[in-house]
Amino acid sequence: MSVCSLADYYADRAAEYDEVYRKPERQADLARLKQLLPPLVAGKRVLEIAAGTGYWTQVLATTAATITATDVNAETIAIAAQREYGPAPVALRTADAYRLDTVPGEFDLVFCGFWWSHIARADIPRFLAGVRARTGPGTVLVLTDNRYVPGSSTPVSRTGPDGDTHQARRLADGREYEVLKNFPSREQLAADTEPAASDLTWTELDYYWLASCVLR
Ligand SMILES: C[S@@+](CC[C@H](N)C(=O)[O-])C[C@H]1O[C@@H](n2cnc3c(N)ncnc32)[C@H](O)[C@@H]1O
Repeated sequence: MSVCSLADYYADRAAEYDEVYRKPERQADLARLKQLLPPLVAGKRVLEIAAGTGYWTQVLATTAATITATDVNAETIAIAAQREYGPAPVALRTADAYRLDTVPGEFDLVFCGFWWSHIARADIPRFLAGVRARTGPGTVLVLTDNRYVPGSSTPVSRTGPDGDTHQARRLADGREYEVLKNFPSREQLAADTEPAASDLTWTELDYYWLASCVLR
């Protein structure tokens, strides 16, 4: 089992990442998310954090005003660069989610697809403070992520002292990694965002949740 960082795991996984969007049982929910997200970002200048291969960037670009899509890994950004986007102009940049001061631009909405689940619970205040410092109070934060579904989700292999859950994951070539992956309930997300944000909304699908809040 590799003890490399989350960033390194996703760099290694970049070429096979989009397989996760081909799971047959999740197709109806993915279609629903693709209906729900565009109205939320319509006309907004979007900062996307941990954008990966640009799967959701493509969806957001149908209605957003502009998108700056960031990810810590050049490997995922390189795949994102092969997609076609529009009509919103999309800028792709490498950036650490905890170092957003390096990202130029003006934003009124931040989108994180399947990133919240990878933030250690102890790091949530630091992450939210960094977003607010970069984008300012009043910024809308839109999050979507996985629900834990036995039989579809990779089983949780370990729970750490802070309540963070971990999974043992394997790439196509057999390399194995332990990855932090949390599955918050609505109540947990409310507790985690309440110190830094208000107006939480929550939509629960079978395999995913979609939430928004406004940074104070
Ligand atoms: C689960 S993937 C989500 C990708 C994309 N948002 C999606 O939903 O398809 C998590 C992403 O986080 C990126 N990542 C890992 N650590 C990061 C960090 N510290 N800052 C920014 N991105 C990071 C990985 O490279 C990976 O692309």
